[in-house]
Order: sequence, then structure tokens, then C-alpha cells
Amino acid sequence: MRLKCSWIFLIAILCFLPSSANPQTPGKDAEGHEWWKHAVFYEIYPRSFADSNNDGVGDLKGIASKMDYLKDLGVDAIWISPCFPSPQVDFGYDVSDYENIDPMYGTLADFDAMTSEAKKRGIRVILDFVVNHSSDQHKWFIDSKSSRTAEHRDWYIWRDGKGPGQPPNNWTSTFGGSAWKFDPITGQYYYHYFYAEQPDLNWRNPKVADAMFEVTRWWYKRGVGGFRLDAVDTLFEDPKLHDNPILAGKNAFGDPIEENKYDTKLPEVHDVLRGLRKVTNEYNGVLIGETWTADIAELNQYYGKSNDELQLPMDFLFTTVNRLSPAEFRKQIAAVNSASGWPTFVISNHDIVRSYDRYGDGQHNDQIAKLMAGLYLTLRGTPIMYYGEEIGMKTTPPTRKEDVKDPIGRSGWPKEKGRDGERTPMQWDENANAGFSQTAPWLPVPPTYKMHNVADELKDPDSVLSFYKKVLKLRHTSRALLDGDYLPVNENDQNVLSYVRFDKSQSVVVALNMSGAEQKVDFGFSKNGFASAKSLVATGKSSAKGDVVTLEPYGVFIGELTK
Ligand code: NOJ
Repeated sequence: MRLKCSWIFLIAILCFLPSSANPQTPGKDAEGHEWWKHAVFYEIYPRSFADSNNDGVGDLKGIASKMDYLKDLGVDAIWISPCFPSPQVDFGYDVSDYENIDPMYGTLADFDAMTSEAKKRGIRVILDFVVNHSSDQHKWFIDSKSSRTAEHRDWYIWRDGKGPGQPPNNWTSTFGGSAWKFDPITGQYYYHYFYAEQPDLNWRNPKVADAMFEVTRWWYKRGVGGFRLDAVDTLFEDPKLHDNPILAGKNAFGDPIEENKYDTKLPEVHDVLRGLRKVTNEYNGVLIGETWTADIAELNQYYGKSNDELQLPMDFLFTTVNRLSPAEFRKQIAAVNSASGWPTFVISNHDIVRSYDRYGDGQHNDQIAKLMAGLYLTLRGTPIMYYGEEIGMKTTPPTRKEDVKDPIGRSGWPKEKGRDGERTPMQWDENANAGFSQTAPWLPVPPTYKMHNVADELKDPDSVLSFYKKVLKLRHTSRALLDGDYLPVNENDQNVLSYVRFDKSQSVVVALNMSGAEQKVDFGFSKNGFASAKSLVATGKSSAKGDVVTLEPYGVFIGELTK
């Protein structure tokens, strides 16, 4: 495949456009880039990362004990899924106290100690802020529920039913069943987009907004670097409670499928995001959003009209590319690259099947895991890794209903098996329970831990982990990869996804073979003023000679263009 047009001119023009850098601004580096643009984020599901007290559930001391590992890997910020006091109905996404730590994870002193260990290594701690709902055991809800005139009654969404036994409207919970639960004590229904144990906060009440903004301030003062905002789409609902339109078919819970017209993505959410951002700016923090957007226009709304909302709304459209298709990735990358803010790339998290299984073909999964690292860690944007991705952890869903821990897996079985499969314990070594704990963990460790674990992979220069480390190291040192522009090249190639990242000082070509056959790509470097590309990181025998890059099956070549 030969490159058709010349791109040297494009690179030259773009390199000499005036830069928006402002070295004087606090919180920015010498070139004027905010810290979160250069940082690599890493999501930790605290139940499953490291268990220091051997009760089968991970904890903060466990996380603190792995700080050297994280630093050595190349992580700059850890996002910890909720570790606040919680009845654990939704494993922490049901918060009963926003300003404390659940005893199962430790204490506030443990949190401070962990944050200080992180800080010593230049790692920031990001918390998961569950903004849409609290637990039904939160003191605000307990009071709200106590009487129609309670101080906190209007902190949640209470409505009369349409008639006896009839909820206020047809909205269903995304976790199954009606989104309304009747409370016999006060004779009204309360609204819950998720489980009934997760009542929605009433963000139309300014007292709720004030209290929640104060929560973020409280944690910022304790040294956190920012928040991942949970389920931001769902903060507001239509006050007139119009019924949602019903679409064809039923979901895994047997409910009619609804168009979420009146219960998600209401414009009022942006006022809240602007308010949260104001507080965040006082502390040079970052806001990451769980933003399920339908297209880039919607994603743009979350950056804010004046870039005054989320710095890092996650681009989940990228995760919708479920096969190794250069054309589809090109399309998604181009779209997010044209967004009004800095892109954020995610390939796995605690709610979706791991990338190892989504892209793996069962035979070349490790090569494909490296290929995906070569992709999302070299794009223009901030990557958010998910624990275990760097060692090739696979999704291991339960095989029997009685083993399921995630409630949606029990109510939706067998169509919906829940999210246990992507939350299994981190695989540290070949010892019992993969070195996660000395007792049986809360979720079983998949048998593959003997092949995929940190200790063994650290010793193997060809492991998925060693590859991640190499790419992450390069990402932190290459100016082109840190800040450079993105230029797609060879855009008609059906097998190889290629692009050049470049700035004034450096041009780096990334070639990713998404096929199971060897590929030779003629980049026409010489026509574009370069001699060839010097390998920076490559898999196996993938290499460049003159104009041509040879890629082994699923091979990766990342090379600096040379004169
Ligand atoms: C999104 C979280 O990622 C998910 O795990 C949780 O169940 C829901 N929000 C409800 O908080």
C-alpha cells in the first residue's frame, strides 16, 4: 500500500502555526500544557486490587503497597472507584457518607497515608464522585424518607403515584423494573435511575448542589487531584414527568425498551458541571466524566461552550468499535480529534467486557493486547487504563447464577450476567489467589493467572506488561506523542492503521497491523523529506527499512522519522 499524497508540507505548516502555550500560567508546564493532558490515568477497582488484611476484599493499604509498581509502570494518576462508606449494593456506587472511607477499605488515616505515598512518587489520586444518587442509607435520605415535611424531603425526588399501585410515570430503572419505589410511610414514590437502594438526588434543590460542591472541596483540601463523575447524564429529569417513548422489544430484565428522552441528558446538567469546574479550578484539579454520548456533538457539550465543564469527558464511542477495523478506528479517532476539547481514550473499565476479550481472537490475544496498547497510548489525548489491562487480564464471567455477585447479573440472568467478569482480582503472581490475598477473594481468580501475572511478566521482555511499560515510557518522553498533532496516513489501508504524531521537534510514525498476516507498508518517507523511521518501540521483528515498514501479524511499529 503506497501513501498517495505528500504530508511533509502539512506537517511543516502545522508546526509553524502560533502556539497557544502560556508558560506563565500556574498548573501548566513550560509549554503551557495542563498536567492532565500529559498524565496517564489508571482505574483501580478497590475491592479487587490488593488485599492487605487478608479478608478477601482489596483495601487502601493494599493500593498504597503497590505504589512502586504503578510508578514503575508509568502511571501518573489513579482513579479509585468509590471507597466511601456504603452498604455495597452496587459495590460502592451507593454512598452512605461522602466524606469518609468504608471500614472495609480502611480509614481516613489510611487514605491520607496512601495519598502521601502517591504524592511522593508524583502520582495524583482521583476519587469517584457519585453525583446522581446516594445510598438509601445516607443520613440525607433517611431524613428525607421520615416525613413529608422533613428537612431533607426535597433533597430527593418524591411524587404521588398516578393512582393506587401506579407509579408516577413509565420510566424504568436502567437496572430493571420501575424507576419509582413506593414508600408506605409517607405514601409517595421516590425516583431511582439505578437500584432502588440508590435514590436520585434532587439537583434542582440548590441545597443539594451546595452540599455536593462542598464535598468536592473537602476532598480537594485533603489532597485529591480531581474526580471522575459518575453517571452525569442522569442528574436531571423532566419536572413534568412526561412518559418516555416506548421502542420495540424488551431488555434483559423483561422491561419494554424506552427511549430515555425525559430522564437523561437534560441541559440543566451543564449548570452543575460548570459549578463543579469552578471549585475544581481553585485546586488545579481535573474532572473526568462518565459520558455516554451518541456522537461528537454531544461529547462537545460536556467540555462546555467555553471549555468550562469537564476537562476529560470519556469518549465511549471509541469502545463501540468492537473489532480490529482500521477504517472504523480511523473514523472514531478523526471524530474525537475534531472535538472542542482534549480527547480521552478508554478501552476497558469496570462496566464493560475487557479489551483483551473484545478484540482477542482466542489465538493471538497477547499480540492483540499489545496492538491495542500501541494504539490508545500513542493517540493525541489522555488515556485511562483499567487495572490488569497491562498484563492481559481477561473477562471471566460467572458460569452459574448462584455465583453472581453483581445484582443486575442475578436479575438479568442469563441474558445479562452482570459485571463480575471484568472485576476479578488483580493477578500479582503465581501464588495462591494470584497473590491478591491469602484468603479466598470476593470473586474467583481466573485460572489464567498462572500465565498472566505481574511477577512473571516483569521477567519476560516479550510480555504484555513489558510492552506496556515500553510504550508508556516513550509516551512520557516523546514530545510528539505528548503534545503533537495527529495526522492519519495511508487512509485506504484495510489492514494497517497508521498515523504520524508530530510537533516542531519530532515526527513519530505509528503503524498497527490489525490483521493476522504479515504486512509491508510503503510510507514513501523519502518523498516526504525523510530517510526512514528509527524504531522506538516495536513488537517482534516489525521494523523499517527505507520507505517500507514490515509488520508481523498484529505487529506494532513506532518509529521516529529520520532525515
Ligand atoms: C456507573 C458506574 O460505572 C456503575 O458501575 C454503576 O453501577 C452506575 N454508574 C451507578 O452508579
